[in-house]
Amino acid sequence: MSNPTLTRTTLNLTVRPRRLRRSEALRRMVRETVLQPADFVYPLFVRPGRDIRQPIHSMPGQYQLSVDQAVEEARAAFELGVPAVILFGIPAEKDATGSENYDPEGIVPRAIRAIKDALPEMVVISDMCFCEYTDHGHCGIINRPGGPHFNPYLPEGYLLNDATLELLGRASVVHAQAGADIIAPSGMIDGMVGAIRTALDEDGLNHVAVMSYAAKYASAFYGPFREAAESPPQFGDRSQYQMDPANRREALKEVALDVVEGADYLMVKPALPYLDIISDVRGRYDLPVAAYQVSGEYAMLHAAARNGWTDLRRTALESLTAIKRAGADLILTYFAKDAARWLEDNRE
Ligand code: PBG
Repeated sequence: MSNPTLTRTTLNLTVRPRRLRRSEALRRMVRETVLQPADFVYPLFVRPGRDIRQPIHSMPGQYQLSVDQAVEEARAAFELGVPAVILFGIPAEKDATGSENYDPEGIVPRAIRAIKDALPEMVVISDMCFCEYTDHGHCGIINRPGGPHFNPYLPEGYLLNDATLELLGRASVVHAQAGADIIAPSGMIDGMVGAIRTALDEDGLNHVAVMSYAAKYASAFYGPFREAAESPPQFGDRSQYQMDPANRREALKEVALDVVEGADYLMVKPALPYLDIISDVRGRYDLPVAAYQVSGEYAMLHAAARNGWTDLRRTALESLTAIKRAGADLILTYFAKDAARWLEDNRE
């Protein structure tokens, strides 16, 4: 694109961009990206019990919450203008197939019902994955001799794709029946969006949307989350199903498949180290784009601030602005409540 102002006049310093930055009012007039609380989705970790707010050490200000406390936390966010929560469950028991995930009395379906009862207008998103529910900590059914769907042609420990799809469909129906507005599959299982869409539609749940973790990378920035959700893989890692951080074109292939399978929202995760991917997805598709500012991003900003090295509020708002500027319509962030408050203060 040619820029007519960048001719000789630039050299003569007749064009002075600083004119637009002289005062806060002038700067506000040309600000291209403005954050608002409605941009945020607030992640909550829900566990069994009552009256529990168990701090997560690597994520200051975040807690494992019993259902009653999750309702209060959702209410506080909603009152600050944050329209949505995404729920992660810490089940009472884990097993080979993660059966608590498709139990209507499981921890997340109970939390969905409680939040929807208390706050019918709040958007409730259910993170749909098996890693919190399986005893091995992987995101689906694992190939084990004697285990369910054992396939002798695949290595032991391999995540069985199609057997997992069936369970994802089943669990999604259970969470949608409990009242979830959006199902957000996060396991990077091939075909997960299509399988969930089909299962929901067959059960009269075609009003429930699917937010796909479409381009999710095998990232070290998920470290603190695994403490929070008690979901570290017991062997190996997730690089058989999550994407290689080195790949950019492949993200567009992953996203294309999810679009064809019927995704309503496309998510990129993590956020800050993957702004190029957010920008690519925004440029290529018209669906709403979400970005997940993950646990390690949150922990990093807190850790530096605690050392007195950076200012938490400013680094957090700057990061969130950058994520939105890159093309995200929605940001899943542990800063949701704080940022909504900060934005309110900034207006005063
Ligand atoms: C579950 C899931 C993970 C996160 C969101 N959903 C962990 C993982 O894939 O290992 C990470 C979120 C965060 O780090 O904040 N599949």
